[in-house]
Amino acid sequence: MKLIVGIGGMTNGGKTTLANGLHRSLPNCCVIHQDDFFKPQDQIAVGEDGFKQWDVLESLDMEAMLSTVRAWLSNPQKFARAHGVNVQPGAPDTHILLLEGFLLYSYKPLVDLYSRRYFLTVPYEECKWRRSTRTYTVPDAPGLFDGHVWPMYQKYKREMEASSVDVVYLDGTKPREELLREALEDIQNSLLN
Ligand SMILES: Nc1ncnc2c1ncn2[C@@H]1O[C@H](COP(=O)(O)OP(=O)(O)OP(=O)(O)O)[C@@H](O)[C@H]1O
Ligand SMILES: [Mg+2]
Repeated sequence: MKLIVGIGGMTNGGKTTLANGLHRSLPNCCVIHQDDFFKPQDQIAVGEDGFKQWDVLESLDMEAMLSTVRAWLSNPQKFARAHGVNVQPGAPDTHILLLEGFLLYSYKPLVDLYSRRYFLTVPYEECKWRRSTRTYTVPDAPGLFDGHVWPMYQKYKREMEASSVDVVYLDGTKPREELLREALEDIQNSLLN
């Protein structure tokens, strides 16, 4: 059995933290991080608002991400070995792929591949505060959060809701351990039984 699980949601909702926790806890489990598919900085468009348009689908090489997912689908054992994941010989023949990122459910070719789609959210103030404490490879330009990041998050979320994509919302203000337990239980109960 092959399961693809999405850990999506807003910036700083805790996606990477939860995905890493699940990765450590689940057998035969690989992770693909959407942030690894950002195009180079000089290919990111500058909008009429003056901001580099990082938080749009066009800034990501989604074809490359899809190819990586297809490589896993065609041979999860080989993919796991190539990515340093121990394949458990005694375990049931179940392989799990976690996709983790902020625009997982907005790219049509991927959207139906998920067995489960999680979506982490925190309130605006918490999100803005968490983001301000982070050090990114490309630091946020002044005003980027309110001028670009948050409006794009709202736009894509509205579109996702309008297209009736089935997601399971997770409250990202809960403690890390609780979120991990909740997601693990849900995966084990609804997918692995
Ligand atoms: N459940 C939680 N409660 C409180 N803080 C958390 C929780 N989970 C993650 N954090 C903190 O919030 C910040 C963002 O976490 P993380 O990097 O996992 O989020 P992300 O959604 O992957 O963010 P990004 O948009 O940068 O990819 C980090 O400082 C992390 O330590
Ligand atoms: Mg992250």
